[in-house]
Amino acid sequence: MCNKCNICNKLLFILALAAGTAWGKADVRLLSKPSPTTQLAADWLQETDATGTILLQRKAQKGLKPDGFRIERKALQTTISSSTDVGLLYGAAHLLRLQACGLPADTVLTENPEHDLRLLNHWDNLDGTVERGYAGKSIFWPDYDRRHLLDYARRNAAVGINGVVLNNVNASPQMLTTKVLRQAKTYADLLRPYGIRVYLSVNFSLPTVLDGLPTADPMDKAVQQWWQKKAKEIYSLIPDFGGFLVKANSEGQPGPMDFGRTHADGANMLARALRPYGGIVMWRAFVYSPSDPDRAKQAYLEFQPLDGQFLDNVIIQIKNGPIDFQPREPFSPLFGAMPKTPQMAELQITQEYLGHANHICFLAPMWTEFLSDIKQYAHYTEQMQRSKLRAIAGVSNVGTDPNFCGNVMAQANWYAFGRLAWNSALSSETIAREWVATTFGLSSQTESLVALMCQSRETVVNYMMPLGLHHIFAEGHHYGPQPWQNNPGQRADWQCVYYHRADQAGVGFDRTQATGSGATAQYPAAFGNLVEDIHTCPDKFLLWFHHAGWNHRCQSGRTLWTELCHRYQQGLTETRQMLRTWNTLEGYIPQDIFLDIQQRMQTQVRDAEWWKDACLLYFQTFSRQPLPSFVEPPVHTLDELKAIRLGISNYENPSRKLLNSKR
Ligand code: GCU
Repeated sequence: MCNKCNICNKLLFILALAAGTAWGKADVRLLSKPSPTTQLAADWLQETDATGTILLQRKAQKGLKPDGFRIERKALQTTISSSTDVGLLYGAAHLLRLQACGLPADTVLTENPEHDLRLLNHWDNLDGTVERGYAGKSIFWPDYDRRHLLDYARRNAAVGINGVVLNNVNASPQMLTTKVLRQAKTYADLLRPYGIRVYLSVNFSLPTVLDGLPTADPMDKAVQQWWQKKAKEIYSLIPDFGGFLVKANSEGQPGPMDFGRTHADGANMLARALRPYGGIVMWRAFVYSPSDPDRAKQAYLEFQPLDGQFLDNVIIQIKNGPIDFQPREPFSPLFGAMPKTPQMAELQITQEYLGHANHICFLAPMWTEFLSDIKQYAHYTEQMQRSKLRAIAGVSNVGTDPNFCGNVMAQANWYAFGRLAWNSALSSETIAREWVATTFGLSSQTESLVALMCQSRETVVNYMMPLGLHHIFAEGHHYGPQPWQNNPGQRADWQCVYYHRADQAGVGFDRTQATGSGATAQYPAAFGNLVEDIHTCPDKFLLWFHHAGWNHRCQSGRTLWTELCHRYQQGLTETRQMLRTWNTLEGYIPQDIFLDIQQRMQTQVRDAEWWKDACLLYFQTFSRQPLPSFVEPPVHTLDELKAIRLGISNYENPSRKLLNSKR
């Protein structure tokens, strides 16, 4: 994209561009045996503006975890110490980050990661496509660009990401063939100096598909031996291989339940194969069968009874919400409900449900909201403290685009994931400020951009799915609104009308115990009781938990219909404000990035208008109430909006041209 700016090709996330810093060229000294990792740390420090003497020292210290580090800065001497080489690398990155953000002259600090495993999940396919990827093709398959890959590794290490799953959870059986494993080995070797281990997603029916075994039943001896042999082969190529990620019995993927076994039977069989080598199994809880009347309850129903049945190298990977990465969901009730089983959160960095690479949406506010809720209601901190496996995963937004993420602002979400994986107590503002400072440098305009970023997620919720509405996206690609979607003969839980249930009485999914699906009972009482009662349920979750009447009085004092209109209008108004703020940043932001984001924000405004018109005109057919005067008159008719078909795949970001031609 841009040759002029440093952002594409230098030390993103740790690059100090800030003018006027007192730091000069650093004298970096390594006090321990050099390694490729410490060499990187030294190079990073030399490549930038750090001044004085910087000592990198490997030594065990009380209170420091293996990835942790200590920075002591006195006058012009800075010492970074850690018990591991990768800890020194993280320390170097942190020092540069502090420098970019205006480090006080004398500093003594200790940093330890909260999660030991901080993973990116790549939904990359062997043919180079990326499921829900909006930044070009896969950086791993079918081939790779060495420079791009090392740049990617550097960015990961700069925020402490230490593991990557190289392929899609909808895993190709070809993934574990010797040919592909050799390629995975190449990546493992390239990423190792950056402290990054590789993991693979596996298809549960591999023994039958790859080697013609008559079954993939986890209780079958030959199947168990097949996996043991495969594990041996993998570890002979990649001695520090991290383990498997498994999507089983979900959305058509095979799994142990095909043979009358449980998730625990399946996960434990794989865990036994990996155990001799120290590998782990991340078993996903993203399951929903067409039979249960409420999709939001299903992961809990399938997994909670299995608590205590998993081997200790298995961890259950749970999406933040009970449905699927919606703009706003309450936390999944599975968190905290399996005290004897390690659990990890799965967040989505790629913007599948948030306007793909077109909408500017900073995700730290969404993730901090979720993390603070599970700390408050689901004993997350306690669970992390006692768990042997402390992990968190983010579904990556990285591709072959020169800017990695489809647009430069989307890099902030990759950054935010890494920072929260390291320390979930960081605020969105802190993370945004760090990212802006390390990417564009500090200026009098930094705070405007930080404020824009921190507001952006709530804005997206307002114009897409306010008040707890969910899954009213266009089918398939999930870009744009389609609340009317109701295809006859298809699974009920794949239709938008299943989720909003609008009728003349009201709108929303009744999940109460009193009259609805009873999903509120799966939550700890403090949260379950709060949301069960329509009068105490926060408005942000109203239509998630209640089928509320059109004249229901919201906490704002407005009726539901008026509040819905207010939110959609507010979302649109806020996108215009975002664009106005962005326009004031010309000169601060490198020009090519400025123009690119400006265009995307223009699309975002038009999309917000599309969402507002589609949702309000459609829901109006049920509420039968006029649009209040504060709502801008629709520029589309409902019939026109219903006729829109973008015709894009699940691997694509719709271009501005395509969108404009369709509306
Ligand atoms: C969503 C997404 C799919 C993905 C699935 C998963 O449903 O749309 O593309 O495969 O989540 O997380 O497994």
